[in-house]
Amino acid sequence: MNDLTMPKDFLWGSASAAYQIEGAHDKDGKGISNWDEFVQIPGKTFKGTTGDVAVDHYNRFKEDIALMAEMGLKTYRFSIAWTRIFPEGKGAVNEAGVAFYEAIIDECLKYGIEPMVTLYHWDLPQRLERDYGGWESPEIIEDFVNYATYLFKAYKGKVKYWITINEQNIFTDFGWMTAMHPPGKFNEEALYYKVNHHVFLAHAKAVIAFKKIMPDGKIGASFAYSPSYAVDCQPKNAMAKIDYDNLKNFWWMDVYAYGRYPKNAYNYLVKQGVAPIVTETEQATLKEAARLIDFMGVNYYQSAAVEYNPIDGVTRFGEMNTTGKKGTGQVTGLPGVYKNPSNPYLETTDWDWVIDPSGLRYACKEITSRYDLPIVISENGLGAFDQKTADNQIHDSYRIAYLNAHLKELLKAVDEGCEVWAYCTWSFTDLLSWLNGYQKRYGFVYVDRDEEGGNLNRYKKDSFYWYKEVIATDGASVE
Ligand code: BG6
Repeated sequence: MNDLTMPKDFLWGSASAAYQIEGAHDKDGKGISNWDEFVQIPGKTFKGTTGDVAVDHYNRFKEDIALMAEMGLKTYRFSIAWTRIFPEGKGAVNEAGVAFYEAIIDECLKYGIEPMVTLYHWDLPQRLERDYGGWESPEIIEDFVNYATYLFKAYKGKVKYWITINEQNIFTDFGWMTAMHPPGKFNEEALYYKVNHHVFLAHAKAVIAFKKIMPDGKIGASFAYSPSYAVDCQPKNAMAKIDYDNLKNFWWMDVYAYGRYPKNAYNYLVKQGVAPIVTETEQATLKEAARLIDFMGVNYYQSAAVEYNPIDGVTRFGEMNTTGKKGTGQVTGLPGVYKNPSNPYLETTDWDWVIDPSGLRYACKEITSRYDLPIVISENGLGAFDQKTADNQIHDSYRIAYLNAHLKELLKAVDEGCEVWAYCTWSFTDLLSWLNGYQKRYGFVYVDRDEEGGNLNRYKKDSFYWYKEVIATDGASVE
């Protein structure tokens, strides 16, 4: 037994996102989202997979939440599909959608599971995309705040923990730089920063609205944080690291926590002619929200090695491994600034994601010293090929090893003075990986389906029992 444990009120959790689990894409008044459309474009997703059925959580949420209760989960983080609440993004409310999420919330509360709601996990009402280009227009700010405010009022008294935006850095990069997510734009750098600015303002105004409705509620954004290590102590590589941090990490976390962009990065972008314009009123809004947020949400999967990248070096547009064939991902970077080579000290997953448990502790310590905010680990997990045996067992010892090692580091981070409120694994059941199909599994619960479909039956993996024990012992069983 480990002598480090989490406090009794620690939120041991697991997370999901609407599009990746629900299915029922056109049921009970739901509107069409950008993802409903994007997945129809040939070549955009692995083997053309969609979330039309996903893992049918829409019809099986009671079964799934009962499994969470059996495990002893303390919190369940899930996202709300904007299109179920406002099918057209704004205007008439779809009562069936509001009732669906209320039923999920009530089911969690019935078992003493704290619901943690994400307002935006990437599925935008297509109507807003069509009407004004979605996040490209400042019009979205008001529509997002109306949507958020509606939910704050609807679920007030039932939901205490809220996450405004999931991984703003990822969906904007994939949407406007690498064309891998909707709206599928390529290398639109100025637009990418403008879009981000709109997302920051939508987040900020939602936070301000939230605190008027639920002063005691807790709110923050979830950032996909890859803490960085310079490859060595050559000054040019150390400089590449600080530039990487300013452009790829602090660009988002500084706005959430301080309400302003990091100066060196902003200055660099001004010189490139792509910096977002910030008015005085906007600046004040961002600062007000920064004073009000309660925690930094962190989705942690991997760290990044950083090295100086010559001006004729690698670009941001290398191939990404979406097949699970190890070694097919390419090195990317920003010419003249940094690149992210592989880290020779660390193993990788089949999808070439670096496995670095200590990076989680590094991330917590960086946030604690830079922002002095409590931390919610809103995602952490291993995507892997799992095999179900003839007698319906799933022996995922590699997932147990991965999670165990990360939790050990998290326990140490807390011991070293970081205030961590929650740890949510990604994910509870297997689900659709946006670009990697159904074969990249993350869950404690195996779902019997593949790219072609399946019977959708649920089976507990070995990791299910392992996490149950971790929760029951407050982390003492972490080895
Ligand atoms: C995060 C997202 O980026 O990582 C999830 O918030 C996602 O939605 C998860 O599924 C794992 O990424 P992937 O690409 O392996 O599915």
